[in-house]
Amino acid sequence: MADLSGKTAIITGAASGIGLASVEVFVAAGAKVLAADIQDEKGKALEARFGADTVRYVHCDVTNADDLEAALQTCADSFGGLDILFNNAGHGGTPANLEEFDPDGFDATVAVLLKSVFQATHLAIPHFKARGGGSVINTSSISAVCAGYAPIVYSVCKKGVAHFSKLAAAELAKHQIRVNAVLPGFIATSIFGASLGLPRAQADQMAELVAQGGGAMQPAGRTGTGKDIAEMAAFLASDAASFITGGEFLVDGGMTVGPRHSWDENDAGPLLNALGITPEQAEAMQAAMKAG
Ligand SMILES: NC(=O)c1ccc[n+]([C@@H]2O[C@H](COP(=O)([O-])OP(=O)(O)OC[C@H]3O[C@@H](n4cnc5c(N)ncnc54)[C@H](O)[C@@H]3O)[C@@H](O)[C@H]2O)c1
Repeated sequence: MADLSGKTAIITGAASGIGLASVEVFVAAGAKVLAADIQDEKGKALEARFGADTVRYVHCDVTNADDLEAALQTCADSFGGLDILFNNAGHGGTPANLEEFDPDGFDATVAVLLKSVFQATHLAIPHFKARGGGSVINTSSISAVCAGYAPIVYSVCKKGVAHFSKLAAAELAKHQIRVNAVLPGFIATSIFGASLGLPRAQADQMAELVAQGGGAMQPAGRTGTGKDIAEMAAFLASDAASFITGGEFLVDGGMTVGPRHSWDENDAGPLLNALGITPEQAEAMQAAMKAG
């Protein structure tokens, strides 16, 4: 486990999923955490669970610069400074594809997923400088790598988040501020139900269904958990990662290693399919070849 003793962190989107797991992992690693979200009931429950000396909750809509500034200041006032900013809040954004293009949905999606990452990092700089450095971790996605995982606007934003992390790392190195992106795969959270417009309680239940049903989609054989991502974020936030900046880190159970037939021997793959050969027939043909 990473060591975050003596460090203070802001985690956005902290009331649910990856953010919630990150609060738990960061606290277990010794950090004080300012949990920021718009789900106030869950956020306040989080503060009550850990105690305000360890976790403070603030209502913070990441699309609102005043909210972000207030959250950063609350972290500095409550815990004596800021060492870690985890830009994690998000949702699925507009489902509209390119043919349907939805300009308002586009703006709203960019505001949450991309502009907020710029804004929060910008506002955090003076706080990091006051501490002599810091670490920013941004939640990107495997949808930044290739098509097929999320709507187009979301995916373009997540690519932007990954590239932002590299460019910000270059710009902020002189202040000893490291910036890295984590690219989660298929993680069992409420985001899928919430993106379908379900009420939060139902979306939370859907997270459990995703956990049960998503394993077959990836080489690791199970759906990812918020903790899988939180552990990577905690490592990147820690001094053990002091040589790591500008990086993009896939945490996806191998989902992007290649097409299914590359990791599932029961999948024939496009070539065998085109030839009308089953995996069993292909195996028998290979055995015959080897036997000479
Ligand atoms: N679950 C996945 O499979 C997956 C994969 C790749 C990337 N991600 C990314 O991980 C991050 C966390 O998502 P999650 O899967 O834990 O989903 P989640 O729905 O469980 O958590 C997202 C949190 O962000 C909060 N949020 C949404 N809009 C906000 C705003 N304007 N201001 C403040 N908080 C806001 C929500 O209230 C919620 O608590 C997101 O950026 C998401 O895009 C998730």
